Amino acid sequence: MIAVTRRAYFCAGHRYWRNDWSAEKNREVFGACANEHGHGHNYMLDVTLEGEVDAKTGMLINLSELDQVVQERIITRLDHRNLNMDVPELGDEIPTTEVLARFIFEQLDGAFSAGRLTRVRVFESNDLWAECRRD
Ligand code: NI
Repeated sequence: MIAVTRRAYFCAGHRYWRNDWSAEKNREVFGACANEHGHGHNYMLDVTLEGEVDAKTGMLINLSELDQVVQERIITRLDHRNLNMDVPELGDEIPTTEVLARFIFEQLDGAFSAGRLTRVRVFESNDLWAECRRD
């Protein structure tokens, strides 16, 4: 068994806010992330597939397929978007790094012709990331 990880990048904005909470409660729980006009991050995404290496190609999955799937299913939908307003599948969920990791895992799971998606890591910054694993 071998694991391959592809790194990709996207920029997006968000705001943490619940309409069913008071402004005070939002500020207490979400701090600066509740600021009215939102803020942005340069996200980094690691997508990990595991499986067997194809003896003919030496590859677990063709890199062009991996890139195309990540581009079509994730980057084009999230890059330069407002995560609160432009990604209807997120509904009214707070677009935290944790929620994004789970969302991206769900969007990619089953999309590859070889290998098995086992881990998605979303880095909001160098020192904060969230991870969604198959187990
Ligand atoms: Ni943020």
